[in-house]
Amino acid sequence: MAPEDHEGATSLLQSFERRFLAARALPSFPWQSLEEKLREPSGSELLLAILQKTVKHPVCVQHGPSLKYSRCFLSKLIKKPSGDSVTLSESTAIVSHGTTGLVTWDAALYLAEWAIENPAAFTDRTILELGSGAGLTGLAICKACYPRAYVFSDCHAQVLEQLRRNVLLNGFSLELHTPIDSGSPKVTVAQLDWDEVTSSQLSAFQADTVIAADVLYCGEVTLSLVRVLKMLTDCQRKKAPDVYVAYTIRSQDTGKLFITELDRAGIHWEEVAPHTGKLFPYEEHSAIVILKLTLTGRHGV
Ligand SMILES: C[S@@+](CC[C@H](N)C(=O)[O-])C[C@H]1O[C@@H](n2cnc3c(N)ncnc32)[C@H](O)[C@@H]1O
Repeated sequence: MAPEDHEGATSLLQSFERRFLAARALPSFPWQSLEEKLREPSGSELLLAILQKTVKHPVCVQHGPSLKYSRCFLSKLIKKPSGDSVTLSESTAIVSHGTTGLVTWDAALYLAEWAIENPAAFTDRTILELGSGAGLTGLAICKACYPRAYVFSDCHAQVLEQLRRNVLLNGFSLELHTPIDSGSPKVTVAQLDWDEVTSSQLSAFQADTVIAADVLYCGEVTLSLVRVLKMLTDCQRKKAPDVYVAYTIRSQDTGKLFITELDRAGIHWEEVAPHTGKLFPYEEHSAIVILKLTLTGRHGV
């Protein structure tokens, strides 16, 4: 191991040891740095060293944290070297039961990849997803980006039913009170129709980040979405959320109405830089963009 690599591993090890001995909340552990280190050839040695300095530490063997805390810690730790996966139950038809939400769209995969490469936009935050569909993006974010809370939402009864199934299938619980030290975000599935939702319903989420994938597929839906974004601008008790909207450009007109309406509403937008890692299978040639919206200020680009 090169000296600088050794130094990095030692400080990571210390960080795990200190946090574990102090029984700190699991999301506060440097999981992201660990994931990077585990990609190196000496990854398995580091994993063993972490075990020795945490659950097998002499102090912990005698006066360790609760069994539940140790179990949650271990289950997070053992997931790391193998990498995480998302399991989905979804339809094979593009439209079924009168909705496009029972199948995963390319923009959802693209947004998930971007999120995995940019976890800071989600870590320790409350995320509200609009039009979640089958739930792929949110599940990937819940597994890889350590949000504090994640609200999946959609308007369609069957989509919501499938979403709940997929959340459970991936090991998350839908209990109202997920223990803080469980290391898992508090996950909720909410019925939220953009044509009916009120300011107070939106305000109750107090989202730090709002995301949506492939929700600009017709003019009517686009206008409804912009209505929700305008409501979000006004109803926050704290800072307005950061918003990321991903969509596939299917024709020259895709996105044009959205941008016109954003400009009209004084919502600033910018295209985010594309990510580099490709993790999911989707049409390589489809043009997909992610817009970052700032819900305050009037400087449309
Ligand atoms: C094309 S699907 C995209 C699903 C998922 N985000 C993805 O990319 O795989 C559009 C989703 O938006 C939801 N949707 C459409 N209109 C809506 C509205 N007015 N309120 C809430 N959700 C809506 C649909 O039910 C559907 O799940």
